[in-house]
Amino acid sequence: MNSTYQPDKAYSNRLVEKIWNLKWSDHFPRSMTEELQITYVDYRQGQSFAQQYFPQIYHLDSSESQFQETDETGMKDAYYEAIGDFFLFRKTDGSPVGMAVGTLLDWSSYNFRNIAILPEYQASGLYWEFVKNLAEILKKHGVQKIEGDISPTNRRHIHIVNKIGFISTSLQLSERWGALLHFVLYLDEALEDKFGRLFSSTYASDSKNKKSHSKYKHINKRR
Ligand SMILES: CC(C)(COP(=O)(O)OP(=O)(O)OC[C@H]1O[C@@H](n2cnc3c(N)ncnc32)[C@H](O)[C@@H]1OP(=O)(O)O)[C@@H](O)C(=O)NCCC(=O)NCCS
Repeated sequence: MNSTYQPDKAYSNRLVEKIWNLKWSDHFPRSMTEELQITYVDYRQGQSFAQQYFPQIYHLDSSESQFQETDETGMKDAYYEAIGDFFLFRKTDGSPVGMAVGTLLDWSSYNFRNIAILPEYQASGLYWEFVKNLAEILKKHGVQKIEGDISPTNRRHIHIVNKIGFISTSLQLSERWGALLHFVLYLDEALEDKFGRLFSSTYASDSKNKKSHSKYKHINKRR
């Protein structure tokens, strides 16, 4: 297996562009708040944010963080170069305050892999703003779902995805992360209805509640 890392070559060939005709650079940078912007960056810039800030964000010593596992084969680098999408949240002076990472999962789904915000910028609605922007762009390009896996102990993350309208569709066990709850945000309401009616006995009553929730009204506008 030859996986020699060749940044420029791999980075010019985005999978989202081939499958969904989606060029992130057509949509970013865009404003997140008055002082912050979402920018689309390359893997190297994403890595440098992770190396510098993940220990502080995840309260881990860099030696114990799975995000910074080194991969001697170069395949991890090649993978992220080929299909990783990196978004940095920045102040107007350019300094970063957070990052999100996603990859195309299949022809109709986007995998929201990671989001990390500096502690002093957490709980100020940035997650919400980012997902709203991401959902709007993906939907415009015909994508039906945003999917992601969350550790059951990450109460804050579970709280926010529930509020946004993600549905937990399964539980997975992985050798790398342990137990993970799988969440899906359906960008196509008919698909969400289909899933909900098939698999959840409380879907009908929950959907009624959802429509009267002020934040859900907001997200419904994009549907
Ligand atoms: C998880 C994370 C991305 C959320 O982003 P954020 O910008 O802080 O999210 P928001 O401000 O949009 O929403 C935060 C919500 O969580 C709530 N919250 C905060 N701490 C909480 C806790 N311990 N338990 C439950 N909810 C909590 C806030 O009150 C807010 O909800 P509200 O709108 O009902 O008040 C961010 O906190 C973070 O970077 N955490 C560390 C890294 C991480 O865990 N990343 C996800 C794993 S991939």
